[in-house]
Amino acid sequence: MSFPVHRPRRLRSSEALRSLVRETRISAAGLVYPMFVCPGSGVRAEVSSMPGIAQQSADKLVEEVREAADLGIPAVILFGLPEHKDEKGTEGYIASGVVQRAIEAIRKARPEMLVITDVCLCEYTSHGHCGVIEGEKSAAKIANDPTIELLAKMALSHAQAGAHIVAPSDMMDGRVAAIRKRLDANSFEDVAILSYAAKYCSGFYGPFREAAQSAPQFGDRRSYQMDPANSREALKEVTQDLEEGADIIMVKPALPYLDLIHRVREAFDVPVAAYNVSGEYAMVKAAAQNGWIDEKRVTLEIFTAIQRAGASIVLTYHAKDLARWLKAC
Ligand code: PBG
Repeated sequence: MSFPVHRPRRLRSSEALRSLVRETRISAAGLVYPMFVCPGSGVRAEVSSMPGIAQQSADKLVEEVREAADLGIPAVILFGLPEHKDEKGTEGYIASGVVQRAIEAIRKARPEMLVITDVCLCEYTSHGHCGVIEGEKSAAKIANDPTIELLAKMALSHAQAGAHIVAPSDMMDGRVAAIRKRLDANSFEDVAILSYAAKYCSGFYGPFREAAQSAPQFGDRRSYQMDPANSREALKEVTQDLEEGADIIMVKPALPYLDLIHRVREAFDVPVAAYNVSGEYAMVKAAAQNGWIDEKRVTLEIFTAIQRAGASIVLTYHAKDLARWLKAC
């Protein structure tokens, strides 16, 4: 007796069939658009290594937020460029800081837009590290606990300005618990925490450091960001952040760590976000500008791959392009 032949190609023979059996359906509903806010008014300065992305003053930024909202993008994540940097990143947690003001402006202009804020000291410290430094030169170390105190202050100031979600990206130990406690103590129980739980020490952050002017002035971030060779350790980081009260967990960067997105998705029942970072964006843009790849096709493929791996939320500089392309589909 012979069995009927299974023919996988049968379901690929027309777009209608391919669409019917498609496993991963992409939409703009999980997009988060990263934006950089600087002091002043009327300022829009393009970041040379990230075509289309700019440092902007709050008034200009709000114009772009309206555009993003009209395209159906549900959320933005804000990074701040302070007027002055100092050892302790003071401008990161004052009520009159650039990010705090931008949050208020966005909430007023587009109340439906979800505002996420990056909680980290590196953009605000004169040395460019993500925490407070103790000790001199070769003995210099990031002091974990004093840093956490400042991060909690920063998260609270963002919540007070109207942020819906705070996203600690520093990788200090215990920061999620400290932030949760501080938010709850001030009646911000509804402000969620998206933790950069598995954040790798990556060369793909290069262009971001130009955009955020946050390159470390000495040393690197190896003592607090994860070793690209490790994956079991990422699950431990995620477990810890969840125990401390994280609501959403993030893997970053995205493409070189799709296996991690998948493992985290399988192991935990919480929303998983992935950050398609600056270097990943810059590579696509540069190759597309040279006519070496089809930008739309590649970007949609990348977005699909990140979602197929298991991330339902994707932070990407391509958010507006994606939303436009998805609308046209
Ligand atoms: C740290 C932070 C970084 C990014 C987001 N938050 C840089 C770093 O860790 O050096 C990188 C994002 C990107 O490359 O797009 N506050």
